[in-house]
Amino acid sequence: MPDTAEFYRIQKLPPYVFAVINEMKAKARAAGLDVIDLGMGNPDGATPAPVVKKLVEAAADPRNHRYSLSKGIPRLREEITKRYMAKYGVTLDPEKEAIVTIGAKDALAHLLFAVIGPGDTVVSPNPAYPIHQYGVIMAEGQACMLPMPDAATFLSRLEDLYRTSSTKPKVILISFPHNPTTTCVDLDFFKEVIRLAREHGTMVVHDFAYADICFDGYKAPSILQVEGAKEVAVEIFSLSKSYNMAGWRVGFCLGNPRVIAALARIKSYLDYGVFQPIQIASIIALRECEEATRNICTTYQKRRDVLVSGLNRAGWPVQSPQGSMFLWAPVPERYRAAGSLEFAKLLMEKALVAVSPGIGFGPLGEGHVRFALIENEHRTRQAIRSIGQFLKK
Ligand SMILES: Cc1ncc(COP(=O)(O)O)c(C=O)c1O
Repeated sequence: MPDTAEFYRIQKLPPYVFAVINEMKAKARAAGLDVIDLGMGNPDGATPAPVVKKLVEAAADPRNHRYSLSKGIPRLREEITKRYMAKYGVTLDPEKEAIVTIGAKDALAHLLFAVIGPGDTVVSPNPAYPIHQYGVIMAEGQACMLPMPDAATFLSRLEDLYRTSSTKPKVILISFPHNPTTTCVDLDFFKEVIRLAREHGTMVVHDFAYADICFDGYKAPSILQVEGAKEVAVEIFSLSKSYNMAGWRVGFCLGNPRVIAALARIKSYLDYGVFQPIQIASIIALRECEEATRNICTTYQKRRDVLVSGLNRAGWPVQSPQGSMFLWAPVPERYRAAGSLEFAKLLMEKALVAVSPGIGFGPLGEGHVRFALIENEHRTRQAIRSIGQFLKK
């Protein structure tokens, strides 16, 4: 067998930087040490009980054991369009403007695979969730990364790109509330992106994985709220974070019918849809579990407050995010030169706290580490104490 490095596409995919920290974590735990894991954005809460109950019921019915529909069962597509109408006042046709996906990751990877070819440029902010960059690379496109110290700077760099570059991007790929930087935007930001995209004939893909994870009264807008957005844009929504359903693998792609049709075609060759009982239970999540979503937000918000105030008190200045389930923290000055991976290793070794090094989210992520709010308040306090002691040394 050839070494995997010789495989055409695999060569383009470097091993996950996060694997280094994961390995250290596994070793420490195997040695009996108590590691506080604020690394991966993997929700720790339970799926709402009515959803689990419906899954159990539906799983007992043999009619649900067959292949399902690749683009999702009609009632689930109808339910997501009702949610968009109720929450955002957006009209969507469940037949042509909505497709069910195997989570947002499937939607992103296969959408890029469907619409991008060799040489096509996809512009997105960096740092970013890895599939935003590597989905483009796997589809043999060019990933054009623009810095995003804040949303306004990203927008002005995007305008510069249209003004100065001879090749126009085929796709703008964005995601707000943003992982890992936690940047949030208002509807005016999306209006400007849609204006540029329509003017230059660019597609827009908005990954809305953190749609509902908002704090302090902030409400994240949907890009589809912008008038005319559907002419150029699709939005990807996921049940993973809004309903603690990460393991269930249910997402949606919504909006421009041409793009939805392209994704539906690709997926019709690749999969037979999510297990039908899961799709049926997902209807219950969307229809009945708004309160569960509010509780999930409150939980993250409390953890955020504990972490932000604790780190600031420990002499590590960080800013409080308005959305997402993360904290994006600049590496303290003293450790910056060594880089985010070395600093994350130190936190793991000396404080027994796992975080994600910024470099894992792309070159512009260097200089930061990301905390995920996935440990309870008590454990989060424990992490702060231990980080505080490490920083004092
Ligand atoms: C920005 C972003 N998009 C998509 C995903 C994956 O979502 P899903 O579980 O629906 O595949 C994540 C998960 O962390 C994410 O941070």
